[in-house]
Amino acid sequence: MPTSYDEVAYPSHSFAQTHPDRLGAMATIFGMTPAPVERCRVLELGCGNGSNLIPMALSLPDSRFVGVDLAATQVEIGAAGAAALELKNIEIRHLDVMDIRREFGEFDYIIAHGLYSWVPPAVREQVFDVLRQNLAPNGVGYVSYNTFPGGHMRRLVREILLYHTRDIPDPKERIRESLSLARYLSMWKHDQDNERDLLRAEFARVLGYDPSHFYHDDLAGINSPVYFHEFMKQASRHGLQYLAEADFYEMQGPPAAPQGPEAPRLPSPGDLIEFEQYLDFLRCRRFRQTLLCHDGVTVDRTLGPARLRGLYLASPLRPVSQTPDFGYGKVEGFTGPKNSEIETDFPAAKAALTLLGGIYPSNMRFEDLLRRSRSLAAAGQTNGDDWPEQIAQELAAMLLKMYAANAVEIAAGPSRFTVELSERPQASRLVRQQLETGDVAVNLLHRQVEIPDANARLLLRLADGTRDLAALRCDLAAALQAEISEEDIIKNLRSAAHGAILVA
Ligand SMILES: C[S@@+](CC[C@H](N)C(=O)[O-])C[C@H]1O[C@@H](n2cnc3c(N)ncnc32)[C@H](O)[C@@H]1O
Repeated sequence: MPTSYDEVAYPSHSFAQTHPDRLGAMATIFGMTPAPVERCRVLELGCGNGSNLIPMALSLPDSRFVGVDLAATQVEIGAAGAAALELKNIEIRHLDVMDIRREFGEFDYIIAHGLYSWVPPAVREQVFDVLRQNLAPNGVGYVSYNTFPGGHMRRLVREILLYHTRDIPDPKERIRESLSLARYLSMWKHDQDNERDLLRAEFARVLGYDPSHFYHDDLAGINSPVYFHEFMKQASRHGLQYLAEADFYEMQGPPAAPQGPEAPRLPSPGDLIEFEQYLDFLRCRRFRQTLLCHDGVTVDRTLGPARLRGLYLASPLRPVSQTPDFGYGKVEGFTGPKNSEIETDFPAAKAALTLLGGIYPSNMRFEDLLRRSRSLAAAGQTNGDDWPEQIAQELAAMLLKMYAANAVEIAAGPSRFTVELSERPQASRLVRQQLETGDVAVNLLHRQVEIPDANARLLLRLADGTRDLAALRCDLAAALQAEISEEDIIKNLRSAAHGAILVA
């Protein structure tokens, strides 16, 4: 039977936070030994048209991917996309999550993004059943869902718009009429009325949405937020325990609890579920991306520096100075996106950040980073050649803190792209395919990138590894019937390289 996702296609995406690179890294940081990303089994529930799973399958040829979805039209698109890329390690199946049994197989990573809050209670239960019965003993489950108290804000808008369109059966007309009312209500202003300001902001939010996304989200027949503690109670009934949030940043607590006789009794960070619940109250959280594992697994939350062993680090921070001084006692500054900045006089950190900034967005294995930081710091006059274990520990602790602040990225596997220009540059097969019909592609960091310039898009489609710079310039000029400078070609290819689009 056709579903609402057959009637109105959902604009599916890739989600970097669901990639085994990220799930495996979080599991390792919390003391688990998850399956190696290069040889793992991944199941996605409600995979839509495979936009999330296909790029993973392409970049991890020795891993196996299975996606299931109820919408036949979406599954068809996904299966055709996988076939066009000649992928042998992925299966996109037209299947109800309710029909998955233990015999369906065991998986190291199970992803349910954008499913849980939009399905009936029985399917929500089944998501947990699948995690319990189909997740490998050291496996990691990812479930995203809408949460209270932020969910109450969304309900304000949802209930008004559902009421307004209650007699309109046609999806396109419902979207149009809902957005029209939202626009009207977002403009309407009362003086000195803070409650209305809140509502206006919510209406303005839905106006920024892709219309079909809005239809399947705020206007969906089911959209049921839960409190985090309720979600975890349900998970624990199914033999699952809390591992972490997919974004480590999201787990960071408030700077300090208020002091004094009037201070409320707040849960301690040791009382994890309660502590996280209160973080939601504090932040008015409306969405979570929770990682779960079997409750028999030992999760170690001490976050010791040894946890970074075997993991791969990247950082966009760059030294302010062209010639940073790696010696003791000299403070150096590092800056990155969104005006992030840090200052440190710790030689190991100065060397490590300089090295990582020089190769970003590529990453480096922690052990290599240690070794290379040591020789870089040694080259500047310190006793870096002979670092005691304590320095390695301090560096790891600092990098973990930067990870919590989103200034360092950690993956379970190495970068699968090059930031260098090879003799015959090659854009990823998926990027070349996606740029045939649009201006958005999924890069090799599993992130969406927009290539608004039509010439740059054409260049990347020609960059299939068979042409050197001269041939690229000649063929691009012929296709555009215009003169193209070598400088332009190099500029666009460098930008693609830094956008993690070129394969090594
Ligand atoms: C909101 S979309 C999310 C799609 C994709 N995961 C994403 O986040 O872009 C929900 C998807 O779940 C699928 N779905 C809903 N109920 C399902 C069920 N019982 N079994 C399998 N798929 C289901 C829908 O068809 C739809 O493709």
